[in-house]
Amino acid sequence: MTQNCYYTLRATTRILGIFYGNVNLCRRLHISKLSETHQMLQNTCREFSDNELKPIAAKLDKEHLFPAEQIKKMGDLGLMGVYVSEEYGGAGLDTLALSLAVEEIARGCGGTGTIVSVHNTLYVGLIDKMGTKKQKENFLPSFTNGTAVGAFALSEPGSGSDASNMLATAKRENDCWVLNGTKAWVTNGIEAKAAVVFANADKSKGHHGICAFIVPIPTPGLSLGKKEDKMGIRASSTCNLILEDVRVPLENLLGKEGEGFKMALATLDGARIGISSQALGIAQAALDCAVDYASKRISFGVPILKFQTVQSRLAEMAVRLEAARLLTWRAAVLRDSGQRFTKESSMAKLASSEAATFVSHGCVQILGGMGYVTDMPAERHYRDARITEIYAGITDIQKLVIADMVAREYGLNTR
Ligand code: CAA
Repeated sequence: MTQNCYYTLRATTRILGIFYGNVNLCRRLHISKLSETHQMLQNTCREFSDNELKPIAAKLDKEHLFPAEQIKKMGDLGLMGVYVSEEYGGAGLDTLALSLAVEEIARGCGGTGTIVSVHNTLYVGLIDKMGTKKQKENFLPSFTNGTAVGAFALSEPGSGSDASNMLATAKRENDCWVLNGTKAWVTNGIEAKAAVVFANADKSKGHHGICAFIVPIPTPGLSLGKKEDKMGIRASSTCNLILEDVRVPLENLLGKEGEGFKMALATLDGARIGISSQALGIAQAALDCAVDYASKRISFGVPILKFQTVQSRLAEMAVRLEAARLLTWRAAVLRDSGQRFTKESSMAKLASSEAATFVSHGCVQILGGMGYVTDMPAERHYRDARITEIYAGITDIQKLVIADMVAREYGLNTR
């Protein structure tokens, strides 16, 4: 794709994005098809993914490589700040646009889907929403243009689902905050040039003591743990961030003091749409692979696509994928219309991650022996899919959130 195409896309999406409001978008989405803006974005991302990511995905996976060149190109396309304001280098689009982009990117490479999803929803999106003007000026432009990636450091070795039980501390000293502790499972950790780090400034207040800080990387006192050797999504790095008397200026507090935990949970609502979209991309890639193989593999003298057992498996794979996609788009549209979308994003993530596991499992099964070796992408999709049921809140947590929201609709509560 030429540079001109990038500019044309960015200019057109801006114009169309302003023209089509959220209400119009909802109507269009429900009635028939995506708006022109979204279709154009989807096509561009699909072309980029096919040309730039799919051919190198196996190598990125095998060698655990970060796709720096492709991330820069995605920055030029506006994909490293999909819903960040244009003032700070973002594309100024919406959550549905993010979902479409992440799905297409993950279809080409699941690990790159992780990088882009986490960077957009948990770093630039969060700072764009909650940051001061100065924070945005300092911590957005080089991140939205694809030069740098950002991270989100909430979990710890001893707290994951129970994120509020974090041990990391923040102490105010004169003109700075002093941070201590270890944050775990930090996506993009190895390459990140900044992270939003959560730490408790007043343990006596429980989660009401938790604050969020923007920590530039490198910074004195901050060191990286080992790069985790993961089952899948290997283009994306994961490591611990170790904080030993890390000093950040007072102005790096993100949001209000003591409101960090609620901000983290609200941000995770959005991140779950991103991971859900990544799961859709992995599932779509697995379905594409299964259909292609079934149409070419001859068994008993005919392509195996002619067998009803194979057709039945493909049908179930396609239904789960499409149902999950509709839930994801619904959550995205709700977020864009300013309504609470906690239940819907958890539903989307639950359905999409389980669909990704189901579809990639079905793909391996259809390919048989060829599904079990690295000559074909099926086994990679199967490994990449598995994480989507784990990070941004395990499946059990999504069920807990959904049940809580459902109970509330009946005037009840689950606690
Ligand atoms: N939005 C805004 N506020 C919210 C909220 C939401 N979705 N959910 C809860 N809150 C508020 C509550 O109203 C409450 O506020 P008050 O105390 O002022 O009343 C406060 O936040 C705490 O809520 P809870 O008491 O419900 O919190 P909890 O400690 O019981 O936890 C939980 C609830 C659902 C289990 C939550 O902790 C959770 O989602 N855990 C999973 C964490 C997670 O997803 N971790 C992923 C790590 S990041 C990651 O994976 C990055 C990556 O690479 C993909």
